[in-house]
Amino acid sequence: MSRNRSGADGATDGVAEGVAGPKKAIVVYRSHSGVTRRYGEAIAAFASDIGVAARVVSVGECDMVDLAGADYLLLGCWTSGLFVIAQHPDEPWLAFVRDMPELSAGAPRIGLFTTYKLRTGSQFSKMRAALAGKAAAPVLELQSRDGSLSAPDRSALERFLA
Ligand SMILES: Cc1cc2nc3c(=O)[nH]c(=O)nc-3n(C[C@H](O)[C@H](O)[C@H](O)COP(=O)(O)O)c2cc1C
Repeated sequence: MSRNRSGADGATDGVAEGVAGPKKAIVVYRSHSGVTRRYGEAIAAFASDIGVAARVVSVGECDMVDLAGADYLLLGCWTSGLFVIAQHPDEPWLAFVRDMPELSAGAPRIGLFTTYKLRTGSQFSKMRAALAGKAAAPVLELQSRDGSLSAPDRSALERFLA
């Protein structure tokens, strides 16, 4: 029996039709040696803690069909470059963005994250440029040296996921 079916008196048996479930977040990362993966996992764990259904997948694992159904999409890539200049996302991340379907401007809400050693430099502007025309402009940028979530990261994520 459907859990949504109305009873004879018109009441539902617990789960009303049309009631939205938790908001959905997909965290998609590209990691070379694991730090960005850990950052993505920390982001997803924080989202889950505040009631958002979050999944974390690598660029290679992500099913493009899931993206349009997400309320939030967080895209992360390690910082590649010459340490002080010419930072950019790596080719597998860029290829993922090229292959992404065009997402409507309204949803999902887009956030970016990266890990680095010295400076992120042009990393976020390169990520934004790759995404232009594919999705709404990102409204969050998070960065970490060690893949852990800082207190400011948590506050920014809370506002992003509100
Ligand atoms: C080839 C190479 C280039 C890098 N270029 C930069 C850079 O330009 N700026 C920076 O701050 N870190 C740079 N890093 C450091 C990485 O961004 C950093 O270690 C990152 O956390 C690695 O993430 P991952 O473990 O997810 O691969 C570079 C690392 C490598 C291997």
